[in-house]
Amino acid sequence: MQFIRDQLFDATNEEVCSVDSTERELDPGVILRRRTAFRFGLGALTTLLCMSPMNVLGQEVAGESEKLNDEAIELETLIARLRPEARRMISSDVPDEEVYIKRAIEELTKLTELETNRFGPPGSPIQSDYQAWVFPVSLYQFRMEPNSVIHIHDHRDVNGAISVREGSARIRSFDIFEEEGEKRWDVLAGKLPEKGEEFLIQEKGDVVLKERQGVGLTRTRDNFHQVEAGPDGCLLYDLFTYFKLSAAGSHRVAWDGKHFDPNRKLCKVTWFSPDHEKQESKQSEEDNG
Ligand SMILES: [Fe+2]
Repeated sequence: MQFIRDQLFDATNEEVCSVDSTERELDPGVILRRRTAFRFGLGALTTLLCMSPMNVLGQEVAGESEKLNDEAIELETLIARLRPEARRMISSDVPDEEVYIKRAIEELTKLTELETNRFGPPGSPIQSDYQAWVFPVSLYQFRMEPNSVIHIHDHRDVNGAISVREGSARIRSFDIFEEEGEKRWDVLAGKLPEKGEEFLIQEKGDVVLKERQGVGLTRTRDNFHQVEAGPDGCLLYDLFTYFKLSAAGSHRVAWDGKHFDPNRKLCKVTWFSPDHEKQESKQSEEDNG
């Protein structure tokens, strides 16, 4: 399933001269795509990377706005307001992601209805429409059919904010878990379980968002999540901010859907990338023959 459109920007956008992209389908519903774009509008060559559903999450639900008509902003305004804050955050030695995410959710909630660029792929229960990419911020809208699911995945070197615009969505959020005293993993330092290695995640939040409600995730809080569309489906606005383009990405984990330790809501998982296996196998065959 292809999740993200080939079109990085509107074809009339003069800032983008060319875009190279590669993609990897991690699982139905979760695709990692890397893009390298050559942008001249800002006078610099910028390496870009975007990933899929990114979605994002957290358990605190940002409030609904009762005066949206007075506060409504266009996409251009949202980018203009958030991008400077995003740039300051990613260049800081001590970035305050929580403050930024709170601001991002607030601005997403005010956003006027986005024009449809190009939803796709046709026929998929989960469709994306790429709206904006101005480093280090990107914005998508996702339309999910009733009860469709974007399975659990992480958000490495990225934080994000998601806002429900139509319908409802259940967001379950998780983090890597270690017993007291253990210190094997360090997400920010890239010290993560190896592929094929079983590890633990702990469910931290489980919320149902309705129209004009949003949540956020940071690189170290609620970094894994699963997004489940409600009985009427949903339209989501999803904003991502990238810290390290070279490493940023989204990786799904295989999970049986159960808490093996219900009291602590612990789950046993492994990185799940079936297509990687196929690709590696195919590459090995090619290398050998
Ligand atoms: Fe996500």
